Amino acid sequence: MKNYTSIKDIDNINTWIQEAIKIKQNPLYNKELGKNKTLGLLFFNSSLRTRLSTQKAALNLGMDPIVMNVSGDAWGIEFGDGTIMDGNTAEHIKEAAAVVSQYCDIIAVRAFPSLTDKEKDESEHVLKSFVEFASVPIISMESATGHPLQGLTDAITIFENSTKKKPKVVLSWAPHIKALPHAVANSFVQAMQKMDVEFVITNPEGYNLNSEITKKTTIYHNQKEAFKDADFIYTKNWSSYDDYGKVLSRDDNWIITKEKLGNAKFMHCLPVRRNVVVEDVVLDSESSLVIEQANNRTYAAQLVLKKILEDNK
Ligand code: CP
Repeated sequence: MKNYTSIKDIDNINTWIQEAIKIKQNPLYNKELGKNKTLGLLFFNSSLRTRLSTQKAALNLGMDPIVMNVSGDAWGIEFGDGTIMDGNTAEHIKEAAAVVSQYCDIIAVRAFPSLTDKEKDESEHVLKSFVEFASVPIISMESATGHPLQGLTDAITIFENSTKKKPKVVLSWAPHIKALPHAVANSFVQAMQKMDVEFVITNPEGYNLNSEITKKTTIYHNQKEAFKDADFIYTKNWSSYDDYGKVLSRDDNWIITKEKLGNAKFMHCLPVRRNVVVEDVVLDSESSLVIEQANNRTYAAQLVLKKILEDNK
C-alpha cells in the first residue's frame, strides 16, 4: 500500500481487524520498524484524538513524529494551477509538498471541506494535491469526504464488542448546532459495507448521504423503526448533502436517549456535544463505547503506518 486515503484502500477488512487486535495486545512489538523514519502530521483543522493517537502510533513503531498546524503557523498554501499568486496565499502546494517530503518519510494530512462548494470539496483538492506533489506516502487524517482512520477504528471496535455472528448496526443522524462534514459518516458506511453486519442508516428527510456512498444500504426516515433490535447505534451529525452544507433541522426528537438505546451499544467518533447529540446518561453508561473507540484510534493508525512502512522500504 502506497497511500491510505480511503476505506477503499483496505483490501480485506477482516484480516486488517485481526492484525489491529494483535497490535493492540502488544503495541511495542514492532518498535524497530520505524526507526530513523519521520512522520509529518499537517493539520489544516483542529484535532484532539487524531493528533495524539497518530503520534502515539508512530512512537509505538519507533518513528519520530513532527506536527504542524498548517492553517495557523505555515504560509498560506495555493492549490490552484496557474494562479497569479497576488492574494493571500504565499506558497504553492507544488513547493510545499515537495519540501515537506524531504523532511518526512510519510505525510499525514487533515483538511476539512468548505461545505459551501460541493464540487471543489468532492474533488478532494487538498488531499489529492499532496498525493500528486509529495514524493512520499500520504495518509488522510480526515479529508473533505472521508475519515478512513476513524472508519477502520469503528470496524475494529464493533468486531471486538460484538456478541453475535452478524450484529445489527445502525448509523443515526443526530441534531447539532452547526453544519458538520459528511466524512465520518461516509467512511463508517463504507467500512460497514465491507463487514458481515446487518447495516442500516436513519436520518431525517433531506439528510440522505451521497447515494454513490450509501449505494443499496437501507435508509429509514423513522429512527424508531431503524433502531428495532439494534446491537450498535453509531450516532453522528452531518449537514445536508443535497442542499449542500445546510442545516435543515435541529429536531431534538433525534437525540439519542437511554430509552432509544435499549440494549444496544452507543458509538460516536467524538468530540460530542452532550445533551445536544446524546444524553449524559447514555455517554456515562456502560453501554457507551466512545472511550474504547478513541483508544482504538492508536491501533488503527499503527496498522496503517506499519503497512506503509513495510510496503515502501
Ligand atoms: N474523531 C476524531 O477525529 O477526533 P479529533 O477531531 O479530535 O481528531
